[in-house]
This record gives sequence, C-alpha cells and structure tokens, in this order.
Amino acid sequence: MIIDLKDLKPAERQNYLQHAIAPRPICFASTIDKQGNVNLSPFSFFNLFSSEPPIVIFSPARRLRDNTTKHTLENVLEVPEVAINIADYDMVQQLSLTSCEFAKGTNEFVKAGFTAEPATLIAPPMVKESKVKLECKVLEVKTLGTQGGAGNLVIAEVLRMHIADSILGEDNRIDQRKLQLVARLGGNWYCKVDESNLFEVEKPHVQLAIGVDALPENIRTSKVLTGNDLGRLANVHDTPLVDPAFQDDRLKNIVQYFSLDPEEMEKEVHTYAKELLNKGLVKEAWQVLSGY
Ligand SMILES: Cc1cc2nc3c(=O)[nH]c(=O)nc-3n(C[C@H](O)[C@H](O)[C@H](O)COP(=O)(O)O)c2cc1C
Repeated sequence: MIIDLKDLKPAERQNYLQHAIAPRPICFASTIDKQGNVNLSPFSFFNLFSSEPPIVIFSPARRLRDNTTKHTLENVLEVPEVAINIADYDMVQQLSLTSCEFAKGTNEFVKAGFTAEPATLIAPPMVKESKVKLECKVLEVKTLGTQGGAGNLVIAEVLRMHIADSILGEDNRIDQRKLQLVARLGGNWYCKVDESNLFEVEKPHVQLAIGVDALPENIRTSKVLTGNDLGRLANVHDTPLVDPAFQDDRLKNIVQYFSLDPEEMEKEVHTYAKELLNKGLVKEAWQVLSGY
C-alpha cells in the first residue's frame, strides 16, 4: 500500500505516523504559569537533538478535535522553563492519567498521585518518583501550523540532570538495564525496555568497515545468512585471511560428510557460521566461511 499523506483525514494520518514512527520516548513535562499554577503532562513527540549544547525538543500539538492548544504550551510561553521527567515502567499508569483534559489550573501531580519535588534552577517542580529529571530552560517555541494536529516545537536546553543512584552502575553511568524506560507507539501501545528485549549492536569499526558489497559473492547471496548476518561479517576493517592455526572439528566433519555435495556443504557451513555470528564470534565465523 502506498498512501499520500495529503489524502488522509488528520486522525488517520496521525494513526499511520504514530504506529510507524515508534517507539517514542516520553517527556513528562512539568510547567508553571505566571500565577504559579503547576501543570504536568506527557508528550511522546520528544527527543534529544544536540549534546553540545544539550538540546531536547518536545511538541504539544493543537488538539485534532477542536484545534485548541495545550496548557503546557501556554505555560512555556508564559514561563519559559520546563522540568522534564523521564518516564519509566513504575509510573506509566499514573502518567497516563495526567493526559486527561483536566481544566486549566488543575494540578496533575495531585490528580495522578505524584510527589512534587522543588527543582534547583527553575520554577516548575520535578516528579520525585521519576528516576531521571532534567531541569530545562526553553529557548524557543516554533509553531508548525494553525490547524488541529499542528505541532509546536518546544526547544529546551538541559541545565541540570538528577539521576537516581539506584539506576547507576559502578562507573557512575546510567545502567541501561536498570532504568526500565517506557515508550509510546501507535494507538494504546507502549513498550517497556528491560533485559528481555535489550540487545547490543557493536558500533561499526573505528576504521572503515569493508561493507556488504565487499563480501565474497557466495556469502552475499547465501540462502542461509540473513541481512543481520551479512552486516556483522561486513563490519571488519579487512577481509580476514585464512588462519592456518584455526582447527575446528565440526567444520572438518561437515567437509568430510558432504564432500560429494558442494551445495549441501555450503548450506551446512553457512548454518554453522550463522550460529557463531549469533554468539558474537565474528572472527570464528569468518574462519569457518573461508576455511573449506
Ligand atoms: C504517553 C502519552 C504521550 C503523549 N504525547 C503527546 C504529544 O507528543 N503531543 C501532544 O500534543 N499530546 C500528547 N499526548 C496527549 C497530552 O498529554 C494531553 O493532550 C494532555 O491533556 C495535555 O495536557 P495539557 O493541556 O495540560 O498540557 C500524549 C499522551 C500520552 C498519554
């Protein structure tokens, strides 16, 4: 299916985009108006855009239903400060509650049962329960349109971070496994980041990787090796040479057993290499693939 966004109704457009551009981190924004009324609301149109200077952007959009603006937007235009609380699994149900359209002036900290903790550099309070809090100064608000659904980019500089000791590793850095982030997808879908779904991808080589186009043709066109397998093999600086010291019984057995059937032999060798790649043993996989 191919769709042109201009042919869709605004709600349909939002639906396709939010399911595809996901998961999105959640900025749980605490803001304040000139009278000192506090507001707390979640925004998943949010991300980090620069680390020097440290800039985050989130977007309170005009309501699709009636084209009204959100209290958060009105507040940052009055008092250009925001405490961004990072959402984790322990707080997701209460967080969702704060997205109700409470009347202006309603304190969602109270409504959702969160504890307001004074910030140190800005007026809006932080969410005590949140494990990472960012004290931010709003630099600019960029309005993207006047129709319902139009975003308003709140561009903010992070001045200070508060990080719970409980999510730090021994090196005083955030341990990704300890901060059980939640993120928003399409419709009512959320996801939770924990050890069962975290995985690491080795950064491409500091020196240039050889690339998939430089892999031998039989590897590149393998019926067994997947795109991920080829990506791993291609992330080496030089095509590894056959190491005469590499001895492997399983490879020997494959070569002996399938000596009369080269096609089947290649399939078996590739299956073995794939298993090694899945264990992160790229060097060994290369030796298996080049050693028969
Ligand atoms: C997880 C989550 C993410 C949301 N993300 C956004 C968003 O990025 N932009 C937006 O305009 N509304 C978003 N909403 C809806 C707002 O939170 C909701 O309209 C809220 O009532 C706005 O509150 P306010 O008027 O007090 O600022 C989100 C809601 C939830 C539950």
